[in-house]
Amino acid sequence: MEAPLSGELLELYRTYIYEEYGIHYAPHKLDTLGLKLQKIADSGEYRLEELYDSLVHGDSEANDTLLEAVTVGHTFFYREHAHLDHLVDDIKKKRCPGSTVIWCAASATGEEPYSISIHLVENGITDFTVMATDVNMASLHVMNRGVYPAGKFDFTPRHILQRYFTRLPQGNYKVKGDVRRHVKIKRINLNECFLFEREVDYVFCRNVMIYFDEKMRRKVIETCVNNLAVGGLFFVGHTEALLEIPSSLRKDGPAVFRKVV
Ligand SMILES: C[S@@+](CC[C@H](N)C(=O)[O-])C[C@H]1O[C@@H](n2cnc3c(N)ncnc32)[C@H](O)[C@@H]1O
Repeated sequence: MEAPLSGELLELYRTYIYEEYGIHYAPHKLDTLGLKLQKIADSGEYRLEELYDSLVHGDSEANDTLLEAVTVGHTFFYREHAHLDHLVDDIKKKRCPGSTVIWCAASATGEEPYSISIHLVENGITDFTVMATDVNMASLHVMNRGVYPAGKFDFTPRHILQRYFTRLPQGNYKVKGDVRRHVKIKRINLNECFLFEREVDYVFCRNVMIYFDEKMRRKVIETCVNNLAVGGLFFVGHTEALLEIPSSLRKDGPAVFRKVV
């Protein structure tokens, strides 16, 4: 087992994680960060000084290892499912229906984008794409595989589970092709400002801003809103207050905002 992490190295990691990914470990959470890093060291994959050196030299594998350890990927199917009904209602009300694009900005292991895809298909909407993005490559691999344990479905109606998943011999469930084909998976770091080639119709950015400080939250909200078409909806987690709502947004429901200009 490696010697305990020094305060100085812990601080270097804290700064790196914030500067690269915007993930903020407040002073009272430093012990938690230390424990997460210690797990990497205990696995024998890297010594923490070496890992830090690889990180600052831009080694992508080292970054994947770090992100797998320090991000929180807790999620499940049909989370905050009132938003799914809100989305369906809004798509059905659209006067000029065309292909709908939904960006799911911190999709973790895929339960959220697949829930969106299932709910749309279940409601007769088939002309859509869900762009499912996250910074954590390990999560994206899980999403791509599309296999989930039974515990991820505690809030999923039984008939949905039966219709859209195949039960595997080990008791896991694999999402079916009709749902998967709408979901496009990509790595995106929300700490980078960017514009997609075309604006999206809906943005889901839920349960990730709690890991950011106010400055980063503002930056992420700006990226989401800049990529959203006027008239589109922006969904955030119910526990995430939008501290400063941009003037281009109007409240459209619980934790939902419409871009009006
Ligand atoms: C708790 S999960 C939220 C999953 C899903 N949105 C939900 O509501 O169930 C938070 C996710 O945010 C991702 N994340 C954290 N920082 C990020 C960043 N800078 N860019 C993109 N994703 C990030 C993590 O990798 C993790 O998968």
